[in-house]
Amino acid sequence: MTIEETAEAPAAAGSGAGSRAFDVEHVLAALTLEEKASLLSGLDFWTTQPVARDGVAVPGVMVTDGPHGLRKQAESPDHLGLGTSVPATCFPPAATLGSTWDPALLRRVGEALGRETRANDVAVLLGPGINIKRSPLNGRNFEYLSEDPVISGELGAALVAGVQSQGVGTSLKHFAANNQEADRMRVSADVDERTLREIYLPGFERVVKRAQPWTVMCSYNRINDVYASQNHWLLTEVLRDEWGFEGLVVSDWGAVRDRVAAVAAGLDLEMPASGGRTDAEVVAAVRAGTLDEAVVDVAARRVLRMVAGSLPALDAAAAARAGSGAEGFDVDAHHALAREAAAAGTVLLKNEPVAEPVETSPGLDNLDRREGAPLLPLASAEGVAVVGELARTPRYQGAGSSQVNPTRLDDALSALRAAAGTDVPFAAGYTVDGADAGSGTDAAALLADAVEVARAAETVLVFLGLPASYESEGFDRAHMDLPAEQVALLEAVASVSPRIVVVLANGSAVSVASWQHLAPAVVEGWLGGQAGGSAIIDVLLGAVNPAGRLAETIPLRLQDNPSYGNFPGELGHVRYGEGLLVGYRWYDARQADVAYPFGHGLSYTTFAYDGVAAEVLRPASGADEDTAAVRVRVTVTNTGDRRGAEVVQVYVGDPEAQVQRPERELKAFGKVDLAPGESRELTFDLTGRDLAYWHPVLRRWVVEGGEFVISVGASSRDLRGAAGVVVDGEDVRMPLEPLSTVAEAMAHPVVGPRVQALVHGGAVAEDMLGMIGDMPLTVVADFGMGGFDRDGLAALLAEANG
Ligand code: BGC
Repeated sequence: MTIEETAEAPAAAGSGAGSRAFDVEHVLAALTLEEKASLLSGLDFWTTQPVARDGVAVPGVMVTDGPHGLRKQAESPDHLGLGTSVPATCFPPAATLGSTWDPALLRRVGEALGRETRANDVAVLLGPGINIKRSPLNGRNFEYLSEDPVISGELGAALVAGVQSQGVGTSLKHFAANNQEADRMRVSADVDERTLREIYLPGFERVVKRAQPWTVMCSYNRINDVYASQNHWLLTEVLRDEWGFEGLVVSDWGAVRDRVAAVAAGLDLEMPASGGRTDAEVVAAVRAGTLDEAVVDVAARRVLRMVAGSLPALDAAAAARAGSGAEGFDVDAHHALAREAAAAGTVLLKNEPVAEPVETSPGLDNLDRREGAPLLPLASAEGVAVVGELARTPRYQGAGSSQVNPTRLDDALSALRAAAGTDVPFAAGYTVDGADAGSGTDAAALLADAVEVARAAETVLVFLGLPASYESEGFDRAHMDLPAEQVALLEAVASVSPRIVVVLANGSAVSVASWQHLAPAVVEGWLGGQAGGSAIIDVLLGAVNPAGRLAETIPLRLQDNPSYGNFPGELGHVRYGEGLLVGYRWYDARQADVAYPFGHGLSYTTFAYDGVAAEVLRPASGADEDTAAVRVRVTVTNTGDRRGAEVVQVYVGDPEAQVQRPERELKAFGKVDLAPGESRELTFDLTGRDLAYWHPVLRRWVVEGGEFVISVGASSRDLRGAAGVVVDGEDVRMPLEPLSTVAEAMAHPVVGPRVQALVHGGAVAEDMLGMIGDMPLTVVADFGMGGFDRDGLAALLAEANG
């Protein structure tokens, strides 16, 4: 598909009283070059440029952040979350939503976001962000879903579909390879094509193909030296020609360096306003003949379609508001949904039985210890104390452009007290920001107070986490550790109590290895959004049975992470040296221990897996994305005494491939809610594409015929069954060339036997074969070692490739 041939409008424009609808083609034909160019940049920070003159009335529409809530700024616009914005529901950020592994829930969150967007007269919500978590240090990981592209794509598509079901658009961002904040506006992500295709792009591809976001936002960075905003390969060849993207590409705010090059590359709308400077550059380039006016038309048409597509919903919402005077969305219902989502994304990392003292014979000294029960769920709040300022002053979202002004805010301490109907002892233990405020005597007093509160309690809930100053848009973290004073608090509390539950608040993995032995239970609450405080209490008290799973590995040490040594790069470049081995792919390849593996998360019940089986349905091809090639079955049973949900994960390994492939990769998952004793059979269909790899030389997806191993489990390290299948795929063969090696020629299905005979019959002794295996054929011919000269080689190659 060429750039001129693209696409339908996101939605048909309507008409009627009060409607601002217009006909896109009619307007486009009437516009001057200057007017068309003016559509390609913003009017101000958040609005597209209107065109209003005799016979033409194109309104400007507002687009605004951000992924987990609306940040509509009433005044003093900025893209760093500094100015205030209208109240909106702060749903949990993506780190938490990613841990739900629940597309149906994300669809509902998306619908709610869409309702708020529409009700606030905003045409496009600037999210979701689905960049891959390459390093735990990325300051913006809280805005991203996973280290894995299948989760990012599945959940991202559900969120986009939900928002857009309300007649407003989304902006899938940041396209692409934007995996750090350091030097984000300039750095070149130096990454090979296979890694891009298999790790960094497929999440975007899945969302585009499944949900057609109205807009895609290009990233600030360069990719292999070319700015994303000026990258024709990325924005046109891959995004539109290969994936069939129909919407418009918008720049990240301030991402455009050369406007004319960007228009030519497929960047339709530049944001924010350039004050007319870049519009004039576009006009001048057309007049000078260096930019085709047809390219400007295509971009202007896409902007007009986006504007026209949003008007029916925005006009209808405005009319409804005028009629009823209502806000346009149900604040209570959205808060309840935010609470449900936060609880669903909470991951129970650890819940070990706690030894309890028992008297074995009369006398105080004769105490033995016996295995007791896990601390969670808490039977009640009786005997419970809460320690940690974060329980009272929650950290519930990250800083920067995604920062929402919440409609209300729950904190865990109040939620626990409300649920218990009584006072619960509390000690702050530390101050949250700026992290060091708790030094000297104040810090000592806070700590001592917390120890006394803990000593008097039966069970202590210790709330720990990252202060806002640690992780934010705009910069990366320096390390993975919790603030030292918080770890010191935990150690002090542990010296007086063995019954500790640690509750974490952080937007990306933190180190747990040095302290987690002090707590029999650890709950990862991520950043819970405005209802995160009550959601955590729902989980701790067992009102919600935790079913969140890690969408990112928690390594033992930062140094174990695959990007270590290549993050965040230097001198304007970051080398993606780990290639495909991102996240669990790396830890599995190295058989390295981790603190908690990808996919991990406990429940208050238990699940059994039976009958893992895989069946080949048809031959597979890399181009096949729609029909099932392999069907996987498994039966899951709730073997505990509580209702709960399990996330069943399907991993694929390709041990026979000619190229190196990760040990196993997530290709499908399903969340199943089961009553005690209930069983359900789940079926997963894998397509050719699920089995394929990107061939770096052929530059297309290929499925190599042969054996595949399908593993099914509760995490990437807790595989409960596996089945091998032999798939009829491609016989992937590279053309033989003069520089092909002797070993490659000997393995060739057509000429291989003859090359073997020639080499054996030539001057090469048997024990020399190992040495010449890697020699190019042409060198062997010249040396007279292979029983063929250059003419003989040419004949051989013709036969092989013919
Ligand atoms: C961020 C985007 C955001 C934009 C507008 C940029 O700095 O990278 O994610 O949508 O600002 O606020």
